[in-house]
Amino acid sequence: MIDQLSEIERTGLEALEAVQNEAELEAWRVAHLGRNSGLMQVFSKFGQLSKEEKPVVGARANEVKKAFENGLAAKAEAMKQAALKRTLSQEQLDVTLPGRRIPLGRLHPDTQTLRELYRVFGEMGFQVFRSREVESDEYNFQLLNFQIGHPARDMQDTYFIEAEGRGDNPIVLRTHTSPGQIHAMRWISSMNPDNPPPVRIVLPGMCYRYEQVTNRHETQFDQLEGLAVGPGITFSDLKGTLADFARRMFGQNTRTRFRASYFPFTEPSAEFDVECFLCGGRGCNVCKGSGWLEIGGCGMVHPVVLRNGGYAPERYSGFAFGLGPQRMTMLRHKIDDIRYFFQNDLRFLEQF
Ligand code: PHE
Repeated sequence: MIDQLSEIERTGLEALEAVQNEAELEAWRVAHLGRNSGLMQVFSKFGQLSKEEKPVVGARANEVKKAFENGLAAKAEAMKQAALKRTLSQEQLDVTLPGRRIPLGRLHPDTQTLRELYRVFGEMGFQVFRSREVESDEYNFQLLNFQIGHPARDMQDTYFIEAEGRGDNPIVLRTHTSPGQIHAMRWISSMNPDNPPPVRIVLPGMCYRYEQVTNRHETQFDQLEGLAVGPGITFSDLKGTLADFARRMFGQNTRTRFRASYFPFTEPSAEFDVECFLCGGRGCNVCKGSGWLEIGGCGMVHPVVLRNGGYAPERYSGFAFGLGPQRMTMLRHKIDDIRYFFQNDLRFLEQF
């Protein structure tokens, strides 16, 4: 029996040498370690052996089994290594290839300017108040002292929405952020109608006008409205606030200028200019040689508007202004066409 085991071991290990692939290895396992293998038959005849033979044959049989099992494991590992070596040499990894870049998102240049404006006005105590883009004629015009048929309506070519039965109060897309003044004042004054709290807010957002589209005019654009209402607010508060804003936004030495103007909802009214921050006021092609850039409109809130907002003009006064963030962004980055803002062209957007 010992001889038989040696023969089983010799032929088994020889056969293992010849194994080339995984299928052959599995076949070998079944043939040499499986239930019908010569080795297992020795184990099954174990009971017939004499007391003296048992330990000797048992030890030897276990030795052979161990040798087969170790051989099998070594062969499997060797085949795994060979396969790995093969793929490594065939499928070469070129670590000098450039990596795949993940596109980096960023804020739209208009959003960047708006956030900077919120920061500057935030430092000066103004909170952000958001107001709707779809308005009624009443809020967009009438409550702001533009009566029906008022010639100043011609300054703001309006999108009217078709809606039945609204008479003199059609739905419009807001032409400016000023209707937010009424919403804000009504909401804040409703907190204490007999003694309304003061207001100090900025109102950002999209406005819509039926414009002939050119490099300076779009049918959709941003405004940032400002509103301060309280007892004893004067025109010098307005001038000081906007001059301070210009210095914080464009640099400590920026000068400002006010020119008389007209808006139905402010009295007196002014256009607000800042010294050209590109040439420092010396004159360049952006400021067209004047040294000044027009940044927005402003004025003292008209008594009719204060009353419409719930603030008695006998006790309260206030100022308002409207800025064009896109215009500031264009001046700053020397963007020569406002249409770039909404074309979603990555070649434009990736520059900011
Ligand atoms: N709403 C005005 C416009 O769009 C700007 C403005 C706002 C002027 C507030 C004065 C006060 O033209």
